[in-house]
Amino acid sequence: MSQGTAQESNGIVAKVVALKKTYFLDHVAVPALKEVNLEISKGSFVSITGASGSGKTTFMNILGCLDKPTEGQYLLEGTDVSSLSPDRLAGIRNERIGFIFQNFNLLARTSAMENVELPLVYSGVSRHERQEKSLGLLEMMGLKGFEQHFPQQLSGGQQQRVAIARALVNDPGIILADEPTGNLDSRTSYEIMAILKRLNEDMGVTIILVTHEHDIAEYAQRIITFKDGLVVSDTVKETP
Ligand SMILES: Nc1ncnc2c1ncn2[C@@H]1O[C@H](COP(=O)(O)OP(=O)(O)OP(=O)(O)O)[C@@H](O)[C@H]1O
Ligand SMILES: [Mg+2]
Repeated sequence: MSQGTAQESNGIVAKVVALKKTYFLDHVAVPALKEVNLEISKGSFVSITGASGSGKTTFMNILGCLDKPTEGQYLLEGTDVSSLSPDRLAGIRNERIGFIFQNFNLLARTSAMENVELPLVYSGVSRHERQEKSLGLLEMMGLKGFEQHFPQQLSGGQQQRVAIARALVNDPGIILADEPTGNLDSRTSYEIMAILKRLNEDMGVTIILVTHEHDIAEYAQRIITFKDGLVVSDTVKETP
């Protein structure tokens, strides 16, 4: 029972049209996104780069239905999400989008396994199925034997792998990652990027990643650069 207007998505997971976001700080308008038009194809791997304050996180928050645009349209898999109720938005977010953050955002006093299961609790999945799913994903992330560890008993790379398992648990079509390697050393960063690349290539998950780092951005097929709330370049690599 989708409320928003479902339109034909034609292989486009996310489409934004004349998207604008203005924050107000003490009645002063801060134009964070000025006019953004983009289409992101299903199964693609996109990096978003740009200087600090250029609007990357603002854009990701809108894509992730964590925030609404001030003006413009956002179609997520063909559904216009701007008209949806907060409850319905939360549902879409939980079912269709996996999030990965710079600070991992795991619950501290909760085991790796329970952290991974959490989105399934919200979707009303049975305990048995939740456990099976989370064990499988932790194993896929190379974390067999670490299921009962708390986040603080894990390295940064291991915590980020728990967070990736959690992001995957609802079989989302899209993973949004905002600086996922920002708190990791370079070797661990490359391990995390290799995992994301594999999810994209082998499982067809669409990945949209924000990064400051040039070599991290290069893992994607397409690199979009923001400057002052606008897209200033959009490059698709030729497939070898
Ligand atoms: N909640 C908010 N209230 C007011 N202004 C905000 C808010 N969030 C962001 N901004 C402003 O909007 C602009 C874009 O911020 P945003 O966080 O999207 O940048 P960013 O590209 O993610 O930067 P960084 O690389 O530092 O993470 C900045 O000028 C920022 O100060
Ligand atoms: Mg940011």
